[in-house]
Amino acid sequence: MSRLDIVVDAAPEVEVAPDLWGIFLEDLNYALDGGLNAELVRNGDFEYTAGDVPGWGPLTGWGVETPSPTRTVWPRTEDPVSENNAVHIRVEGPTVLRNEGWEGIRARSGERLRLRFAARLLPDATQGLVWVRVAGRDGELTTAAAVAVPAGDWSWCETTLDGIATGTGQLRIDVPDGVVVDIDCVSLRPLDDAGRPRLFRPDLVAALAALEPSFVRFPGGCLAHGVGLDNIYDWKGSVGPLHERRQLSNPWGYHQSRAIGYYEFFLLCEELGARPLPVVAAGVCCQNTPGGPRAVPLSEMPAYVQDVLDLIEFARGGADTEWGARRAELGHPEPFELRYLGVGNEDEITPDFRDRYARIEDAVRGAHPDVAVIGTSGPSWFGRDHEAGWAFARERGTAIVDEHYYETPMWFHQNLHRYDDADRSGPAVYLGEYAARSSRMRSALAEAAYMIGLERNSDVVRLASYAPLLARVGHTQWQPDLIYFDGERVLPTASYHVQRMFSAERGDRVHGVRTGGGREVPVSQASRGPVNFRLATGRFALTEVNVNGEKLPDQTLAAGVPLSLGRFGLDGLDVRFVAERLEGEKGFNLDIGEDGPETTFSIDMGNWRNDFVTAKRSQYGIHGDIAEGVIWRGFATRAAVAMRVLVTSGRLRVWADDALLIDATASLEPEQRFAAGAMSRRSADGTEHVVRLVNATDDTLPVAIRLDGRAPEAVRTVVLAGAGPDEGAAFDASPVEPRTGDAELADGTVRLDLEPWSFTVAVIGSAGAS
Ligand code: AHR
Repeated sequence: MSRLDIVVDAAPEVEVAPDLWGIFLEDLNYALDGGLNAELVRNGDFEYTAGDVPGWGPLTGWGVETPSPTRTVWPRTEDPVSENNAVHIRVEGPTVLRNEGWEGIRARSGERLRLRFAARLLPDATQGLVWVRVAGRDGELTTAAAVAVPAGDWSWCETTLDGIATGTGQLRIDVPDGVVVDIDCVSLRPLDDAGRPRLFRPDLVAALAALEPSFVRFPGGCLAHGVGLDNIYDWKGSVGPLHERRQLSNPWGYHQSRAIGYYEFFLLCEELGARPLPVVAAGVCCQNTPGGPRAVPLSEMPAYVQDVLDLIEFARGGADTEWGARRAELGHPEPFELRYLGVGNEDEITPDFRDRYARIEDAVRGAHPDVAVIGTSGPSWFGRDHEAGWAFARERGTAIVDEHYYETPMWFHQNLHRYDDADRSGPAVYLGEYAARSSRMRSALAEAAYMIGLERNSDVVRLASYAPLLARVGHTQWQPDLIYFDGERVLPTASYHVQRMFSAERGDRVHGVRTGGGREVPVSQASRGPVNFRLATGRFALTEVNVNGEKLPDQTLAAGVPLSLGRFGLDGLDVRFVAERLEGEKGFNLDIGEDGPETTFSIDMGNWRNDFVTAKRSQYGIHGDIAEGVIWRGFATRAAVAMRVLVTSGRLRVWADDALLIDATASLEPEQRFAAGAMSRRSADGTEHVVRLVNATDDTLPVAIRLDGRAPEAVRTVVLAGAGPDEGAAFDASPVEPRTGDAELADGTVRLDLEPWSFTVAVIGSAGAS
């Protein structure tokens, strides 16, 4: 096969954005509590509530062992350790309290652990000795210490324990007969080499450090603006002694201890050598809050804006400022280098949003003109809030706009040139959340190809962070994720390796790349396939069913039982039916076509929220958005709705009772499955060119790279390859890791054989400055 010529232009085009590759840290998927937070005890302060998860309460995560037939453990709120830590427990011995953390307490042999808790001995208790042990999960004793609880009010009790041979176990607090004690804020943390309790789980920090992020975004995502005004992430409530922090419900369906709060976030940034990129709510909570969006009352906005300014001062104010002094008091007199501030997250661009956003941005501009404010532009690359967010940012002269999109690998390969013609005179772009859905190799390579486009356009795309970052196996609310983990293991995905390969070899200036052709793969709509209904809950009657003019029998759609209307020609597919809900509270899904290389469609007709209709396209079973969600009146039980679905050459239309709800067209542009990008940088011996190459096809692609006006003298390559496009899965490590590849220097060119489904980074040295 002949080699594809790749010529790297001599003159650089633009500077590479220095902070381009960063990470996105949100307490989603147990990323922090149960993850990065080194705390081993779950619900150690008994603050879990039914508001976090129905059925949860102060004793969630705890087991109680007692020989007594009467109750010996009571949750109480009288005279708490602190106002923000309202609940503690009273324990009457003989009783053992047991905590297994998240699937077992990880306490390895050779490790030392610090146990700390608040306790208050009841005056009539005969003695104050409490035994604490870390034991194997089957209960065998491996390490123990006695802790004397002093008489009087709340005291902090502390001891050190050894790790255990089994590595994973349980913490046992043994309150002997005759002792009645109040207990709160139980914490068990491994000690670091200097004997200090760890803040962060070291193997996860190592995985993040290997990404060499230029910045860390925190605290989200949805978590930043919260569900309801009370749930907005208030930074002040996240700093200071742990027991005084305001704990919050986690919008992802669990609890936020906020043990990794704003101060720890800044420390993490420092440890990673990354800039902090905090995101504050724009004075409005999430628009999906039940009951509708809400805004901070105008009378409270001055205080809200002041809080934002105080956050900046907390990060970088001198120790002679109020909040700089607070930071110094916490142990960090030197300022953290804060240059970016996100305001808002995927918000609906309402008048309330505009008003409050403007107040915050004006205040930050006035007080800290060197902080780049980052505005927001909705949850997708298209649609109402995307357009309105961008228009608003342009109008206001906002420095940077945050874009978010989670799409199919196909979408990424179709949009490699998205930013080539972006307006360079307006706000720059922060691609704050993106991922090609799935944890398979094809998604990782689609991201790599797309990232080449981000880098090429890094005069306008200044920052980018894949999302979400971390996900604990068994506690995941969002997929795909960059790094899966459990109590023992860190499981980096192929996407993680791609991110790492971008960070590890960066250049300073982007060079144009000319290629003698690409690898275009045509995209089509599936021509024949099944039409299937899915129902999660309830029951529907489907009558007057007609597909492509052919009358079909009436059907009953039952929860959990997929229903197929049969296989049909799909171009021009016309499905009509009357849907009547017999039981339940939601709607159903309708899937058209079967998984494979061609475009298929999926309609969510009120299944997520009864009042919401969305449509997706998919390829290889991986979904992406084609239409904005539409608010609809929803199904009512025993009310018939006449529906029609029409599919023609990538266009999908959905009607309910003659109202057109969805009219969306899936792009059938070909996929660009080959991508190449180049940058240069100075090296000790001259110049190095970093060339990135993606071959997302089934064939080996031989290439010959020439540096215009230069003779390559040395080359080394790193390659991610060796797995098929559909290898790799959520909750698992990537099937392959980056390795050194082969390259040949001949006739002034670098010759490489790009493996099928591969990403290659070639570093080419040449003499002389660039
Ligand atoms: O990354 C997961 C979530 O996706 C973020 O919290 C939110 O901003 C987006 O919708």
